[in-house]
Amino acid sequence: MELRINSFEEYQNKYRQSVEQPEAFWDEVAQNFSWQQPYDKVLDWNFDEPNIKWFVNGKLNITENALDRHLEKRGNKLALIWEPNDPKERFVRLTYRELYEKVNEFANALKAQGVKKGDRVIIYMPMIPELTIAVLACARIGAVHSVVFAGFSANAIADRIQDAQATMVITADGLNRGPKQVPLKRVVDEALEHCDTIEKVIVYNCLNWAPEMKAGRDIWWHDAIQGMEKVCPAEPMDSEDMLFILYTSGSTGKPKGVVHTCGGYMVYTAYSFQNVFQYRESDVYWCTADVGWITGHSYIVYGPLLSGATTLMFEGVPTYPDAGRFWQVCDKHGVNIFYTAPTAIRALMAAGDDHVLSYSLNSLRVLGSVGEPINEEAWKWYHLHVGKSKCPIVDTWWQTETGGIMLSGLGDLSPMRPAHAGLPLPGIQPVLLDQEGKTIEENEVEGYLCVKFPWPSMLRTTYGDHERCRVAYFSHYKGHYFTGDGAKRDENGLYRIIGRVDDVINVSGHRFGTAEIEQAINANAMVVESAVVGYPHDIKGQAIYAYVICQELPSDPDMMRAQIIETVTEQIGKIAKPEKIQFVSGLPKTRSGKIMRRILRKVAEGESDKLGDTSTLLDPTVVDEIVNGAL
Ligand code: WTA
Repeated sequence: MELRINSFEEYQNKYRQSVEQPEAFWDEVAQNFSWQQPYDKVLDWNFDEPNIKWFVNGKLNITENALDRHLEKRGNKLALIWEPNDPKERFVRLTYRELYEKVNEFANALKAQGVKKGDRVIIYMPMIPELTIAVLACARIGAVHSVVFAGFSANAIADRIQDAQATMVITADGLNRGPKQVPLKRVVDEALEHCDTIEKVIVYNCLNWAPEMKAGRDIWWHDAIQGMEKVCPAEPMDSEDMLFILYTSGSTGKPKGVVHTCGGYMVYTAYSFQNVFQYRESDVYWCTADVGWITGHSYIVYGPLLSGATTLMFEGVPTYPDAGRFWQVCDKHGVNIFYTAPTAIRALMAAGDDHVLSYSLNSLRVLGSVGEPINEEAWKWYHLHVGKSKCPIVDTWWQTETGGIMLSGLGDLSPMRPAHAGLPLPGIQPVLLDQEGKTIEENEVEGYLCVKFPWPSMLRTTYGDHERCRVAYFSHYKGHYFTGDGAKRDENGLYRIIGRVDDVINVSGHRFGTAEIEQAINANAMVVESAVVGYPHDIKGQAIYAYVICQELPSDPDMMRAQIIETVTEQIGKIAKPEKIQFVSGLPKTRSGKIMRRILRKVAEGESDKLGDTSTLLDPTVVDEIVNGAL
């Protein structure tokens, strides 16, 4: 399969074609995949409802494209390299044939446990090969997977199970993460106390912990695959059948289930993977994300496997057993393409250069960054010490909702500017809009980042609530998909993402809605009200600052803080823990009762002298108290 663009000039030509004749362009790309039945139309769309259909009436199974069709030529090629948390443990390598067999075997096990096409399956797993196998096995039989990152709490899982009306959970007894081990099955058991749709739980034995198994409901993975055939017919899926749901935070309410469908997602993840990373057949490719996030879905599992690539999966963390772990793994497996997040780079940078300087890293050819804006200092360190000044860095901007990379350089083909994501991929039509929603045509400008034309891997709906999808993404600016990000465009048309312009906080590349965290804090019985904002943090990019009103000002603030953190951990997970908690007696509100976050943000950023106009506040005196008590 040859989807790769080979020069900047070719990129420009393709880009032009993709804008002038989008259907012809995507038709040509889509011809590189196997379809069980050809589509009869490339695209049907409007952004008003919205209603988006790609490769209309086509039939396919994404796993046939990711596995079966590679067997002939690449059956003995490595599909997956798994590197364990502990470097002393053995790593695992699976060829395309072996992965094919394991996926088929587990797909048959799912069927035997009663899972049918269209059923929703929650996957709450460690970063082990079985996670990828579980995801692909669902896709094989047409079940809709919804992976929940293994750092979320029982409450968060329960919310997702209920929203998705899932019938099965796939989990493990526990997981290794750096020096720690985390129980997973116990968390699932707790979640299931509040859910009545789950019929079966499959448990992978990862740590030999012997968790309690509920008779009739729980079954071991190794028992479930007993006697299963290693061939399972691939379920014929319509292009627009659901492939997966992935929950993500927005500015309002609970996380929403972003829905991706089969055909368009397949075409775009493979296309973007091969072009952005300038992938070559013999490459070893490593993306350090977790499969629990969209980056893991699109660029650990689907994009690389659809391309017949060797994808590396890492169980551990960047700093265990020491801050040289990433680089050791790169040298050990001869990694050619390395894709990570700015927060990891900053953490490793802070640990000192010695860790990186002791490895050769000479297999590396392309470096990638994702999840949040990368600051120039981190960019330069990454370029110099990891890339030895010879590897391009692709700064890939995209979102759970976009399914694939939207703005990015293409390996070493494109102009590269630190902290700039760069140009749109072919088929992607970004625009910047001003306050009034008017398109800004010039360069050297700043505005709200929107997309004015559909692309194959865009979200189709939010599960169970299409109106929510319309309101969140398609109602701000008529005829546009609104990203929630602000961006600049430089004199050469390169985009630089500034950050979110809505109430979403990006902590170490993980998205949280302020409302979601406030709700969690408010679940503490002592709390009356709270307001949460993000503020700049050296390693995490942004951290969470919470202003909390308690029934009475706590006599032991540290103890109260610990209790609030515990509540948040229970409600969402440790990853959503506020960095700072300030107790206040009131919040700055407008006369209509709206919290003026702008003021809270300034205080959290340490810029209390730049609060601006506070005269419209209901009670301007609360501001003095907040400023004086700032942490
Ligand atoms: C931010 C992650 C700057 C952005 C793939 C976006 C970025 C949100 C970049 C989506 C980047 C992601 N430069 N900001 N290269 N990549 N973002 O859904 O604010 O977890 O809206 O998807 O992360 O986060 P999500």
